[in-house]
Amino acid sequence: MKKISIVGAGRVGETTASILAQDNLCQEVVLLDVREGAAAGAALDIQQADTYFGSDTLVTGDTDPEIISNSGLVIVTAGSPRKPGMSRSDVLDVNRKVIEGIVDDVMKFAPDALLMLVSNPVDVLTWHAWKRTGWERNRVFGQAGVLDASRMATFISLETGYSVKDIHTMVIGGHGDTMVPLFRHSTINGIPVTEFLDSGAIQHITERTCNGGAEVLGLRKVSSAYHGPAAAIATMVDAITNNRRRILPCISVLDGEYQQNDVTTGVPAILGRNGIESVVEVHLDESEQAALERSIEKIREDLAML
Ligand code: 2OP
Repeated sequence: MKKISIVGAGRVGETTASILAQDNLCQEVVLLDVREGAAAGAALDIQQADTYFGSDTLVTGDTDPEIISNSGLVIVTAGSPRKPGMSRSDVLDVNRKVIEGIVDDVMKFAPDALLMLVSNPVDVLTWHAWKRTGWERNRVFGQAGVLDASRMATFISLETGYSVKDIHTMVIGGHGDTMVPLFRHSTINGIPVTEFLDSGAIQHITERTCNGGAEVLGLRKVSSAYHGPAAAIATMVDAITNNRRRILPCISVLDGEYQQNDVTTGVPAILGRNGIESVVEVHLDESEQAALERSIEKIREDLAML
């Protein structure tokens, strides 16, 4: 992929640009931000760091949306972050309007792009963006599950003492308190994690994973997480630009999968050069399906407020 644009040069957008450039995941990274100089300054800083990393990715930034022209992928990180004590849904109203303007710019300047939503509440905004574009559902998707699964893997590693390199996790549902960590579908080098964790440990890891973003925000107070989110975005970008066809938890529009229609939520999906190739339906037991339905119910409540 030649050109990737990131809308929003806040901490998540800037850190993402830095990783994409360092990892040579495309030829050109563009940062767009309405704040005068914010994107251009961040881009220049990243470009200069790249000499150290041996990367020749061109990094530019501007306030003019035309800069995203001909992007193969546009990543939307712009919007108001939540403050400590707020839920992600509390920023729906303000971020909905931000997203509408961005989506219109993407349709105008990058009509052939894939569109990845990151701004919160991300499940609902992914739906809103998809509806507004009228594009095929494979082209509009959201990032959340890769981050949530990486948090789950971190906590399993801390609990067991085993290397996170061998830990593969899956989290589905909405990016909020009701997300569903799937322990039966998570392994340490092929061995189900349930072999290593008792019910107390599973409960503890579930709570910490579901509260993962709030825990970081509560500690930092003036900033949400951004290293984890940026690494998660880069993981998805790598799957797309290298057409890896990885099975990753992605926010996808559901069309009958998991017995759900007319909603977006996190599900395992095959991610490659065309975006979401297909949703992977894994067998859920009764309690997992019920937990997924509870999580989707919360998303539907927010969708009703659009
Ligand atoms: C997080 O979970 C900000 O939603 C983001 O850290």
